Amino acid sequence: MKILLLGSGGREHALAWKIAQSQKIEKLFIAPGNAGTSSVGENVPLKADDFEGIKTFVLANGVDMVVVGPEDPLVKGVYDFFKQDVQLRDIPVIGPSKAGAVLEGSKDFAKGFMQRHGIPTAAYRSFNGTNIEEGIAFLETLQAPYVLKADGLCAGKGVLIVPTLEEAKKEFRGMLDGMFGEASATVVIEEFLSGIECSVFVLTDGTHYKILPEAKDYKRIGEGDTGLNTGGMGSVSPVPFADEAWMKKVEERIVKPTVEGLAAECIDYKGFIFLGLIKVDRDYAYAQAGDPVVIEYNVRMGDPETETVMLRIKSDLVDLLEGVAEGNLDTRTLEFDSRSAVCVMMVSGGYPQAYQKGFEITGIDDVEGSVVFHAGTALKDGKVVTAGGRVIAVSSYGNTQNEALVKSFTEAGKIHFEGKYFRRDIGQDLLK
Ligand code: AMP
Ligand code: GLY
Repeated sequence: MKILLLGSGGREHALAWKIAQSQKIEKLFIAPGNAGTSSVGENVPLKADDFEGIKTFVLANGVDMVVVGPEDPLVKGVYDFFKQDVQLRDIPVIGPSKAGAVLEGSKDFAKGFMQRHGIPTAAYRSFNGTNIEEGIAFLETLQAPYVLKADGLCAGKGVLIVPTLEEAKKEFRGMLDGMFGEASATVVIEEFLSGIECSVFVLTDGTHYKILPEAKDYKRIGEGDTGLNTGGMGSVSPVPFADEAWMKKVEERIVKPTVEGLAAECIDYKGFIFLGLIKVDRDYAYAQAGDPVVIEYNVRMGDPETETVMLRIKSDLVDLLEGVAEGNLDTRTLEFDSRSAVCVMMVSGGYPQAYQKGFEITGIDDVEGSVVFHAGTALKDGKVVTAGGRVIAVSSYGNTQNEALVKSFTEAGKIHFEGKYFRRDIGQDLLK
């Protein structure tokens, strides 16, 4: 099979690495890819949302399937673009329709969906320019801290967690006033959930589903989960508290009603569903202490979770994706690797604030026994250079999580670029 994978980050390198190992792959293209993806497939200089360019490429190169990494092309309707084109409509796109991508593209829609299908999520209300005073009154009914969310996509920046009522009112008005542009023209205010987070990934053909290995990511720049939010500084899989009993609750209360709810609302969804969950540590109206509650949906895999999840899938990923395309995912096998996998993200000095790019990266070839996924790299005059905030993910296996971590830290120590930084406490909170 000839596959075109869209995207250019660490997630896409990890997907490409796994797809390239398939018995069924004949040729893998990545658009636009990065310096790492070119080692497992052929990079194509096309933007992931250049639908016309993608069409021309797919037809000229006999591509049999398109796999979408990031949310942006999905929210813009790449699935529908293919379905509505006579030449493209029989070429499967792995990823939801535009209507399905709204689960990530609009927090207000996602909350409404969960309410309609009895899926446990924080109590909430949505407000816009027409009911500001009601929003202020709603804030007054809640306990600190206050959670304010821009309805639309803001590159992961649209959520504010504010300690006092006064600040919450001010930020609420600011958001409606255009703090995040159009994305915060509607604001979701929701109850704060206290607990520990876990990312669960589901692959669905619209009827059947498979639950992939779960993972936990580390979002803050500083050790001990301090400092600014980033795109993700590392991940681990499995997550010890996501044991069989907990995952059973996730499946019964969240996965099944989500897949059934999408079908009931006639939303075409053949792709990945990323459940951002929290194991709450006290009782709420919709969950007891210890239960899973949904914080958010994403319509793609997580980054840097994919850099551990792919290591833990033993089965042929392309076989599973074919099951999604053909609507017979139930006939495919999904086996997990029982080992632990961890990912340590090496980032540019200054990230997530201003940082410089273009520094040469050395030592990648000295890494042994770990998998190096490129996140923000580029090739310049034959050299690999930094090209983003998150630069390189070092992923490792271990018989225990700690063994995997020691391995990743050791191997990350061999890779050098000016200003490099990585957190040395990934996974430590889970060992307590
Ligand atoms: P989101 O973009 O919805 O994933 O939110 C970003 C992050 O904000 C989440 O990963 C959580 O850490 C935090 N967060 C979002 N909603 C809540 C909530 N209701 N209670 C506590 N933390 C939250
Ligand atoms: N790791 C969180 C995300 O991909 O959104």
